[in-house]
Amino acid sequence: MSSKVYPVSKSAKTRALIDSDKYQKWYEESIETPDKFWGKHGKRIDWFKPYTKVKNTSFKGRIPIKWFEDGLTNVSYNCIDRHLKTHGERVAIIWEGDNPYIDKKITYNELYDHVCRLANVLKKHGVKKGDRVTIYMPMIPEAAYAMLACARIGAIHSVVFGGFSPEALAGRIVDCESTFVITCDEGVRGGKPVPLKENTDIAIDIAAKNYVIVHNVLVVRRTGGKIGWAPGRDHWYHQEMASVKPDCPPVKMKAEDPLFILYTSGSTGKPKGVMHTTGGYLVYASMTHEYVFDYHDGEIYWCTADVGWVTGHSYIVYGPLANCATTLMFEGIPTFPDQGRFWEVIDKHKVNIFYTAPTAIRSLMGAGDEFVKRSERTSLRLLGSVGEPINPEAWEWYYHTVGEARCQIVDTWWQTETGGIMITPLPGATDLKPGSATRPFFGIKPELVDAEGKTLEGATDGNLCITDSWPGQARSVYGDHDRYIQTYFATYKGKYFTGDGCRRDEDGYYWITGRVDDVLNVSGHRLGTAEVESALVSHHLVSEAAVVGYPHDIKGQGIYCYVTLMADVEGTDQLRKELVAHVRTEIGPIATPDKIQFAAGLPKTRSGKIMRRILRKIAEDDFGALGDTSTLADPAVVDELIENRQNKK
Ligand code: WT7
Repeated sequence: MSSKVYPVSKSAKTRALIDSDKYQKWYEESIETPDKFWGKHGKRIDWFKPYTKVKNTSFKGRIPIKWFEDGLTNVSYNCIDRHLKTHGERVAIIWEGDNPYIDKKITYNELYDHVCRLANVLKKHGVKKGDRVTIYMPMIPEAAYAMLACARIGAIHSVVFGGFSPEALAGRIVDCESTFVITCDEGVRGGKPVPLKENTDIAIDIAAKNYVIVHNVLVVRRTGGKIGWAPGRDHWYHQEMASVKPDCPPVKMKAEDPLFILYTSGSTGKPKGVMHTTGGYLVYASMTHEYVFDYHDGEIYWCTADVGWVTGHSYIVYGPLANCATTLMFEGIPTFPDQGRFWEVIDKHKVNIFYTAPTAIRSLMGAGDEFVKRSERTSLRLLGSVGEPINPEAWEWYYHTVGEARCQIVDTWWQTETGGIMITPLPGATDLKPGSATRPFFGIKPELVDAEGKTLEGATDGNLCITDSWPGQARSVYGDHDRYIQTYFATYKGKYFTGDGCRRDEDGYYWITGRVDDVLNVSGHRLGTAEVESALVSHHLVSEAAVVGYPHDIKGQGIYCYVTLMADVEGTDQLRKELVAHVRTEIGPIATPDKIQFAAGLPKTRSGKIMRRILRKIAEDDFGALGDTSTLADPAVVDELIENRQNKK
């Protein structure tokens, strides 16, 4: 584990909204007197009717979670209308197309017009408060308009990632009984069309067999490609938008009225519809966006996530727009036209804050520094990371090569269920340790517990729980509150269980070690797969690694490593030995890899998450039952992995 410390830089300290004293003071207040603290910060958004009650929550019984419960507000109003008087001409969204020669800018005034019209289109087709609207869109501004239009009239949106299959889309439409879908003729990614309307048509047929009838499909024209059309059901977005009024009053929403559902996978069962509500969510998303990214008025902010994930919800759309920020939305992929795209876009739009995922960082690191060096990146002043543990090697590369040692890195730990960032450095307050998400945000009470639920103190490893509510917390699983209780509050009574393993060091810094379901038990020793991966990736010839456990006669579990090498490096037996030795010196003999398989590519979902389930099966030589591989970005990598498996029986 890296023990290096990068103190807050002078420039970060000078400009910071929060320094270490203020962090300490605010954090203590947020924990000791949450009502007072959140009572104050809840006012960062506008309320039609101010709340008098702040926090009314319990992690016992039916887990009732209410924040600001008697207040009335509207998310769309807060993200648009309230900025118009002073900043109507400010750019709200910079859209960068998949094609590097195509982009556009949308001001807050324009955003108001688009969102109001779209809200009126929804109303015209009978969408009412509480109805579920499915949004199946590529990364185009209309996706954000759709979310905000729903929020404006109190409809609950369910954004389904554009990379999901028709089956997956159908499952989500059926689960929340959504009868209105907003989609697009085709998306474009890496120069290739994505048949969203065609997928939607198939999904609607599947949904109908499950007794959920989609009555209306609103179709944005993106490519003009040939698509099927169901008259009466399908409507062109541009035609509908032209024929409605350009104003639509925002509906006064109760703080606890649902804002959106977002489906997420757990360790069991089908995806859960995680449900977020209005007031607390927006307070938390906007507050974390401001302080974690140390957002200053006028800055250009870019989060590379897709709006189909919670990161896109909270940190492309809701947090930044509530703060009147300029948020960049990128339609494409990091490797098109080549691996220099991110850095090129940063120069082109003078991006100040850049927020991406370790998997992207590692893959671009593997591409070689020349792609980065081709750009200047002088506008950059803060870098963010999210989604998985970032190995120190990638962290250092991000810091030194991308940020040229000028930019603080915020490694932000959170989940779909948490609504916003939970454990993170604050740029002007927190000394950095590569690989650590560092400290809790205001109001967050992390606790590490052992398998029996006993609270652990001091420097230790444990299961990460949160012991009290925060405003951004998911309130339920849509339509299945029992599952909510069961999944998050049954394992450790009275605590929210994150499903993550975590280490707290002597300085009280948190190091997320990965999902507990990915923790190996080797000869009775617990070992994070992320730890072994980090060790492997710290070898200069390794670009990426994924480690899984497999049944081992003597040790209980053996360690199986899939290793992707840097470009042009050959995977030899000699290199295998070298890597084994390397891991032993990095972690210790208990982490000695049993198997190393060199792999040209790893099976990833289209969101970039490695599908360990598949890797475990191949490692077990049980690939007859690989299960659903439909969400893979490139299903072909699986065949190559099977071919070269190391555990042939
Ligand atoms: C899981 C949540 C929240 C945004 C995207 C993922 C892992 C997330 C970090 C981080 C280590 C991280 C955890 C968590 N995770 N951020 N900075 N360091 N691990 O959302 O799909 O709900 O996944 O992602 O394992 O439980 P998600």
